[in-house]
Amino acid sequence: MLKSHSCGELRKENVGQTVKLAGWVDRRRDHGGLIFIDLRDRDGVTQVVFNPEMSGTAHKTADQLRGEYVAGITGKVSMRPAGTENSKLATGDIEIVAESVAILNTSLTPPFYINEDIEVEENLRLKYRYLDLRRTRMKDNLLLRAKIVRFMRNFLESRGFIDVETPMLIKSTPEGARDYMVPSRVWPGCFYALPQSPQQMKQLLMVAGIEKYYQIARCFRDEDTRADRQPEFTQLDIEQSFVEEEDILQLVEALFTSLMETVKPEFRIMRPFPRITFAEAMEKYGSDKPDLRFGLEIKDLSDIVASSEFAVFRNTVAEGGKVKGLCAAKCGSYTRSQLDELNNFVQTCGAKGVVTISLGSGPGDIKDIVLSDVKSQALKYLTLEQVKQMAERLEATKGDLLLLIAGKGDAVSLAMGELRKEMGKRLNLADPNLFAFGFVVDFPLFEWNKDENHWQSMHHPFTEPKDGHAGMLEKTPETVHGKHYDLICNGFEIGGGSIRIHNTDLQRRVFHILGHTDESIDRLFGHIMEAFRYGAPPHGGVAFGVDRLVMLLAGENTIRQVIAFPKNQNAVDLVFNAPAEATETQLRDMHIRLREEDLPKAET
Ligand code: AMO
Repeated sequence: MLKSHSCGELRKENVGQTVKLAGWVDRRRDHGGLIFIDLRDRDGVTQVVFNPEMSGTAHKTADQLRGEYVAGITGKVSMRPAGTENSKLATGDIEIVAESVAILNTSLTPPFYINEDIEVEENLRLKYRYLDLRRTRMKDNLLLRAKIVRFMRNFLESRGFIDVETPMLIKSTPEGARDYMVPSRVWPGCFYALPQSPQQMKQLLMVAGIEKYYQIARCFRDEDTRADRQPEFTQLDIEQSFVEEEDILQLVEALFTSLMETVKPEFRIMRPFPRITFAEAMEKYGSDKPDLRFGLEIKDLSDIVASSEFAVFRNTVAEGGKVKGLCAAKCGSYTRSQLDELNNFVQTCGAKGVVTISLGSGPGDIKDIVLSDVKSQALKYLTLEQVKQMAERLEATKGDLLLLIAGKGDAVSLAMGELRKEMGKRLNLADPNLFAFGFVVDFPLFEWNKDENHWQSMHHPFTEPKDGHAGMLEKTPETVHGKHYDLICNGFEIGGGSIRIHNTDLQRRVFHILGHTDESIDRLFGHIMEAFRYGAPPHGGVAFGVDRLVMLLAGENTIRQVIAFPKNQNAVDLVFNAPAEATETQLRDMHIRLREEDLPKAET
């Protein structure tokens, strides 16, 4: 080895030892004859001092060292002179007095500082990702990710789950997102699809008698990239036989509780994980993945305003819509421009606007409020009694601000949900030390696809209907609920899963509701339908977004921060410059001819 210790390892106790270190030059300082080098490797930074009187040759070589050069040094561990210790550095009590140094490689000047955590344009970072990953913050994210994945593996192995790899080249099956397709050379005109998840494979493994499966699985979905979405991402994928919903929920709660205790003991979690139904989540929080770190509950006020003079409210309710509101505590003194900001904000969330009712200056009981305390663009049309009723329902006091949105049921819920999140942020309601894991359960099995006029699975077609619900499949599919559960945390969906259908007749009926014919079922799902005839056990499972989880635990805002080589926002890998054109030969081998209009335009 070119090193006897890492650059983060040496302490007072090592003083007097002769050591070999190797790494990158983090910083170089010249101090009247003495040269100081901060040598960095994955583990940390150690100060090396070159004294011309101790070793003239080493000092001369050190003079040539520049930022990011790779150097190997030999020297003696010494205490730093009193007063020059660096308490911010784990190795800050000591330094290495260099006896010799070798320049193992030189480096161009990097396009951005590596030794400072400063803002750098993201595409530049992604192009030079190998340099970006040298930076402490990114390196720490990768280390955290490795720790989390190691924990997951150990936890599941200790409970008898086994890791099984599943193929990347499979058949396209409708699962929600668009597939990435891979043309076949051997079978002209035929394509493999990359898996959106190992869903069907893990179910087949249950038929195979594996009983407890897990995999750190790569998944591919051709959908628009977002802060928490990548075209390829990683799941912790789990499936188990002979289980019911409760068994999986308990497994998940145990996994995440002990993960947090091991990896992030400084954070609090809520035990047991709160469980809310999908309906309740939408009603109270306007989201199927609410941030449970704060209340700020949304309430339905439709009955109070149904007969008000305010035409917007009255007509909305008369037409079957809803008026919903929430109370922003102590925001009664919001200025015109703050209120305008909120109005603009809700418009970006699909609402026509927000009606604001400011309850004067507080504190004070709502019972004592008089008309002159209240400010609102709708005040002319509302009675004091109506304002009081709304305030009481929203548990407001004097000095608070009521925010109301009117519109069609679902749209109001979603806009209120976004407004709730926004107010949570503005009012700093979320405890940064709390990881509010929770389960959302009792989802409808289907949702209506308005654009294409048919039922689609809320998750995927393999979810079993709740006990007693299968009878309603054909008559009232909208009333059928599924044995599906999501794990949420701080406003993100971390994972989801379900108990699966293991009976071919029931599976066929579900496919029929989704608009499949017997012919398309056989063509697309024949393999799994046939497998289920050979003694498929009852089974269920779940999958978690590893990237999202690591993002949350690392305190980052995008999953790109926790993936070594992510795609940028335009789905481009800037290190490789992928995707790229195929050569004529490659296209011929794949039996593909590009249409004139699809050919990349020549650069002008
Ligand atoms: P689902 O589609 O809900 O379920 O995915 C499970 C979890 O994967 C993460 N995730 C993503 N992360 C990053 N980028 C993406 N594009 C992306 N899409 C999803 C989310 C999500 O909760 N086979 C089922 C699971 C099952 O039923 O067992 C499935 O894939 O955190």
